[in-house]
Amino acid sequence: MPSLRDAARGRILFGGDYNPEQWPEEVWAEDARLMREAGVNSVTLGVFSWARIEPHPGAREFGWLDRLMDLMHAHGIGVVLATPTSSPPPWMGARYPETLPRAEDGSVIWYGSRQHFCASSPVYRRHAAALTEDLAARYAAHPALTMWHINNEYCTHCWCDATAEHFRRWLTWRYTTTAALNEAWGTAFWSQRYDSWAEILPPRTTQYRHNPAHLLDFKRFTSDALMECYLAERDIVARHTPHTPVTTNFMPLWAGQDAWAWAAEEDVVSVDVYPDPQDSLGGQYNAMLADMTRSQAGGPWMVMEQAAGAVNWRGVNHPKPAGLNRLWSLQSVARGADAVCYFQWRQSRQGAEKFHSAMLGHSGEQGRTFGEIKRIGAELALLGPEVSGVAEAGDVAILHDWDAWWASTQEDRPSSLLSYTEVVQSWHRGLWEGGFATEFARPEADLSAFRMVAVPHLYLLTDAAIDNLVTYVRGGGTLVCGFFTGIADEDDRIRPGGMDARLRELLGIRTVHEWWPLDAGAVVECEGFEGGLWSEELEPDGSAETVAAYRGGELDGLPAVLRKGSAWYVSTLPAPEALRALLGRAAGEAGARPVMAGLPAGVEAVRRGDVLFLLHHGRGRVTVELPGPHIDLLTGAKADGSVELDRYGAAVLRSTTAP
Ligand code: GLA
Repeated sequence: MPSLRDAARGRILFGGDYNPEQWPEEVWAEDARLMREAGVNSVTLGVFSWARIEPHPGAREFGWLDRLMDLMHAHGIGVVLATPTSSPPPWMGARYPETLPRAEDGSVIWYGSRQHFCASSPVYRRHAAALTEDLAARYAAHPALTMWHINNEYCTHCWCDATAEHFRRWLTWRYTTTAALNEAWGTAFWSQRYDSWAEILPPRTTQYRHNPAHLLDFKRFTSDALMECYLAERDIVARHTPHTPVTTNFMPLWAGQDAWAWAAEEDVVSVDVYPDPQDSLGGQYNAMLADMTRSQAGGPWMVMEQAAGAVNWRGVNHPKPAGLNRLWSLQSVARGADAVCYFQWRQSRQGAEKFHSAMLGHSGEQGRTFGEIKRIGAELALLGPEVSGVAEAGDVAILHDWDAWWASTQEDRPSSLLSYTEVVQSWHRGLWEGGFATEFARPEADLSAFRMVAVPHLYLLTDAAIDNLVTYVRGGGTLVCGFFTGIADEDDRIRPGGMDARLRELLGIRTVHEWWPLDAGAVVECEGFEGGLWSEELEPDGSAETVAAYRGGELDGLPAVLRKGSAWYVSTLPAPEALRALLGRAAGEAGARPVMAGLPAGVEAVRRGDVLFLLHHGRGRVTVELPGPHIDLLTGAKADGSVELDRYGAAVLRSTTAP
């Protein structure tokens, strides 16, 4: 199977989306010159080129792209060639309105922006396949081609009639009979029984609340329907170039695609990462996305896009202060990225993204951002031979699952304040601040390699997943399980007793009497800490120890945190320091160790193979004591005893002590 290694060839890929169709050809030569100057070795071409290649139905204008492919090759720059199928030209929507998506209320999502296609439209699929076929045939043998990039950030949802038909086919595959579907969806409720497949619709605008199982299946279906589009194009390009890796770029922590399932169909797993430079936890968020993507990839992965400075789509768009772009780029490499790429190479002068930063901004080659880009390019060139191809696996796993996410964030839950992603991020933060190397895993995965498994919040768990957790703990593993977990089965049917009986037995809980969600900003006092967001009225079965009890209020004296041997249950969201302490304690008892002890606040240590990355997320100057003599791979300087890190500073070190 082709891999990122084939495209990277011992380097770290560095570059970005290149949209030269927005510029006169005279600019292209300057682009190539400046790319060389910046150390760019990879560009992604063609993402939004459909209208340029096919200006009228059936036309094929490849001449401009031929010249660009040649130009890139002449400058030693590889091309990640995109199928331009995410943004169909206006002629498609005008001639074939059935290719346009429809919203829940039946209104049309018009062209004039991007990603205006219905994944279930046979007409869209036919045109996309024809274009992909011709693109692949034309460039299969081009020496600049290093990788295929299918579409871009698959994310459309559609409720049209073609989608309805497609959804019915998907449901027939899943349930075989309407009786099974009625049972799974609980349609006895509110007289929702379906008498035939033809009656079933996507969950369109309704008078009152939807059927949650219907919504859940529609989310599963939409992820699968988009994946069919991806697979169709992937199979076309793979037929032409069986040895060229294929990717499609994920949005970070995006609910629309089950990334575990998609990643299994990709040669290279890539993601677009846009932490907010203003966010004091931006570094942790970046680390979490890296851990998640590396886990999906099972090895090195690709930052397909990040911003060199500000984006255009937040309310207030802050640039990156000096050093932050470099810090987060090195952080991604530390956590297994073999490619650090940007949206985009040259900042647009027109269009919706003209205020979105780029590697080469409006201020041009004299700009601060371009200066930093050159530094990053030069440093990644040094690091490529040292780290590419290697990706360290952590010994603590965080379980993460799209079905559980989808089911947990629907209407009609005990609390609309409960955000799946915020809970996952809080738990990752606790482990990150504790210095532990973490992986993400799906609930049914083999967990035996991990010293500790953390389950921040998995409302829905299959029987197989529950058995997996029980087996893991019986085999000596340490499980730390967060609140409102194991409540529903895969049809979003509440399990008898309100929480799965096997889990209750594992955790020492006789009964969960009530859930007591908290109002925004409210806290519940617990022994030694405050909890937020959630609390539970638990009755232990006598086999578990109360680690911390609730104090005051309705739950006074009842357990907030329980443990039964190596299985822990945390029924609230402890404040950050408390969660860090709790996870650190459980991980320590499980034999997991932080990457490095005694680090100054704000400094992250990551090992990739035998290379140690020290990353300073704070603003003051700090001194980090080193375990023995090292060499700094970026400067060649010796680092004996300690290194100094300035604001957003980073050191990449190798020990010089003989093993
Ligand atoms: C996404 C898209 C890019 C661009 C950036 C802007 O990642 O893939 O085309 O729109 O967002 O941040």
